[in-house]
Amino acid sequence: MIPQDFIQQLLGRVDIVDVIDRHVKLKKAGQNFSACCPFHNEKTPSFSVSPTKQFYHCFGCGAHGTAISFLMEYSGLGFVEAVKELAEGVGLNVPDDGRRERTAEQDQAALSLGDVLNKSLAFYRRELKRSQQAIDYLKGRGLSGEIAAKFGLGYAPDDWQGLRAAVEDYSSAALKDAGLVIDSEEGRRYDRFRGRVMFPILDARGNVIGFGGRVTGVGEPKYLNSPETPLFEKGRELYGLYHARRAIRDLKQVIVVEGYMDVVALAQHGVENAVATLGTATTPVHVEKLLRLADNLVFCFDGDKAGRKAAWRALEVVLPVVADGKSVSFLFLPAEDDPDSFVRSKGADAFLAAAANAKPLSAYLVSELAERNDLKSDEGRVRFLSEAAPLIRQIQAPGLSLLLRKRLAELAGMTSEELLQVIPAERTAPSPGSARHASARRSAPVRTSENRIAALMLNWPRLAANFDVTVGPESSGALRAAAELAAFLRDCDFECSQALILESFRGRPDDAFIAEALASSMTDVVLDEPAAAAEFADCLEKLKSDQRRARRNALAMRAAEGQLTEAESREYRALFS
Ligand code: UTP
Ligand code: MN
Repeated sequence: MIPQDFIQQLLGRVDIVDVIDRHVKLKKAGQNFSACCPFHNEKTPSFSVSPTKQFYHCFGCGAHGTAISFLMEYSGLGFVEAVKELAEGVGLNVPDDGRRERTAEQDQAALSLGDVLNKSLAFYRRELKRSQQAIDYLKGRGLSGEIAAKFGLGYAPDDWQGLRAAVEDYSSAALKDAGLVIDSEEGRRYDRFRGRVMFPILDARGNVIGFGGRVTGVGEPKYLNSPETPLFEKGRELYGLYHARRAIRDLKQVIVVEGYMDVVALAQHGVENAVATLGTATTPVHVEKLLRLADNLVFCFDGDKAGRKAAWRALEVVLPVVADGKSVSFLFLPAEDDPDSFVRSKGADAFLAAAANAKPLSAYLVSELAERNDLKSDEGRVRFLSEAAPLIRQIQAPGLSLLLRKRLAELAGMTSEELLQVIPAERTAPSPGSARHASARRSAPVRTSENRIAALMLNWPRLAANFDVTVGPESSGALRAAAELAAFLRDCDFECSQALILESFRGRPDDAFIAEALASSMTDVVLDEPAAAAEFADCLEKLKSDQRRARRNALAMRAAEGQLTEAESREYRALFS
């Protein structure tokens, strides 16, 4: 974990206006800066950045956050990566990695890991220029020199110890840790990649973290990949993401394919928004990463049986993560094709048309289940529903869930109410990802009393001392969040930057509430302190009277049933006096 006081130090050094302006040109507008929102399509600017609060908010689509969140959303970086990038920019060293606890020694190793990876990459690239056979192979697959250079393709010569020419010390531990060499049982060390065309795998910041290597003729395995290393976790990384980022953002669409060659071949034909998983199944981390970058996610797996299986796996992973407003679809190519062969034989336009016509998630789910079961028989329909139930329960997006339930009910020949008995609508806690996406798409902040109270506390932290509403398990989530915020402000003696507050609430159930309050506080600049205190007191009064009313109603119900205890009936009378 990165310690919280480092985050505090970092947020104190970084200026969010600089960070965002590097990617999106900002214009001064009163106290704040504004621009057309990079997270949704718009003609008039509703994206606002507050230098005093170190916070951005889009009044159009609800996107919001700190400088850290901006890099995560805009550049697709993970939290740790975003913190590192910001830290580098202001000359700070991140004390800890977050993914694993690391010692200084391991940090040193991680450094030289990057070093040997870079040197090996340079070596493979030099070798490609020297190998006519490898060049012919890539040419034969329709790739130009420019595309090969763009993706950093290389060649590992067919030598046992080719990397001796790449690094000063072939016996270094870093070579082994980077997965570039293998130590035999007899203690002999040799290159992992030999006689293969090399595809470097880059992280979101463009650093090489691993390789995939393909045989140029026949041979097993066809692709050999770097093993997992401290820098390379297959379940988090996507091949091609670094190069595809801009296109993904411009097109608001990302295409997920299965192979390295698919990504490169699509790019060769001008389809630049494709990424590939790394010979592993799609993970929730992959999907969350991509849905942060684009609203529209198209899975395009090979037309064969394995491809169909991978598609269904991906569907299962997407269900808990997708939010309403995001579109996920599945493109099934003809059985004999993969994206590479398809785009080469039929062209980019045909591929893009097919992607535009990809089957939406909901339609795919329903048609696949309908295909597996005979909907003409009662037994078949029961099985159909029992297979659907666990999938439907995974869905956190209310719109999608409702729509699918309707569709399933129709197909099973029952009403939606009847379906509810088979698949009860349970309120599961949203996964952190879906909560974030759901809140990111919410429109202008809602001005409830709780929201106002929180907003006022954010601008005038000392008001938190006056927060005196009793909060219990029966209170609304918003009220409990407001109470948490008041407690937080008291704990830090009413001195804490808004960005740090938001970062402290990151990943907690109330972070969306805090962000909305921050958004609403951005328009409060005209209020003066006495006016703020007066509004704060009014809101508290309103909440307390709401609480009294709710309590009165609850007691009235029990009174009508003759169930009041002695103490409750005293309380009941007091509430009316
Ligand atoms: P495919 O076999 O579909 O590869 O594997 P492809 O992209 O069509 O390859 P070409 O066109 O023959 O060059 C898809 C992905 O699965 C992983 C690789 O990541 C590959 O890109 N894979 C495949 C392996 O890791 N090892 C293998 O032996 C085969
Ligand atoms: Mn292929």
